[in-house]
Amino acid sequence: MQKKRSPKHLAIIMDGNGRWARQQGMDRVRGHTQGAEVAIATIEACVTREISELTLYALSVENMNRDQREVSFIIKLFVETLLKEKTRLHENGIRVNILGERKAFDSGVLQVINEVEHLTAKNKKLKLNIAFNYSGRWQIKEAFFRAIETHDESTCAIQAYDAFEKSLGKVITSDPDLLIRTGGEMRLSNFMLWHLAYTELFFTEVLWPSFSEETLDHAIQVFKSRDRRFGQIKDDVYIETKKKITAT
Ligand code: FPP
Repeated sequence: MQKKRSPKHLAIIMDGNGRWARQQGMDRVRGHTQGAEVAIATIEACVTREISELTLYALSVENMNRDQREVSFIIKLFVETLLKEKTRLHENGIRVNILGERKAFDSGVLQVINEVEHLTAKNKKLKLNIAFNYSGRWQIKEAFFRAIETHDESTCAIQAYDAFEKSLGKVITSDPDLLIRTGGEMRLSNFMLWHLAYTELFFTEVLWPSFSEETLDHAIQVFKSRDRRFGQIKDDVYIETKKKITAT
């Protein structure tokens, strides 16, 4: 029997930081601090599990409307974590790619993003996409505008569509095989709406700051047990169906 493959591209919605902190009797932002540590540990765990692309949902466009104190805390934490971890990420062969609308960030934040992306640009072991001030609809809208920019009287609709699709695949280079969402909710929350078309979904009650290698391995095992057909039917089912049709 053919060995079931591990996911090559893993996407994670890291949810439950606030509830975790409340359960510990702490301010909800402390959940984000712990969450950032767990994110770094998870990135490292992915490197040893044949995962070649990892996309983390760290801040959505909608999250930006939270209390400004919390938003500023998350942005500061994000920058501090990148600065603290950049050398280790680089030495581990990780290429960092930040996704999302950057206009909202000041020059200090943009400088750190550019620095880390530039430092790690040639790394090949794991491509790490961090979605920050990101939403799936925003990304589709951006790709649409890029396509329109390159579209003039001489280009046909097919070429414009190709430009649109190319733009969507430029920053996130493959569609995720597996999406993990922690925190018990079962929804996509505007995450990678285009790319998740045939992704296997795994939901867990575990709150993100309690996420561990054990939960990651469990999700991978569940993924391996799934039968991915991408809208097709399995060869043996196909043969059986064909036999029945020919017999009648
Ligand atoms: C969702 O939990 C989490 C966030 C909105 C922020 C996550 C950000 C980080 C973990 C920092 C990431 C930094 C790097 C460098 C990857 P929530 O606050 O919605 O939790 P709740 O549903 O319990 O309220």
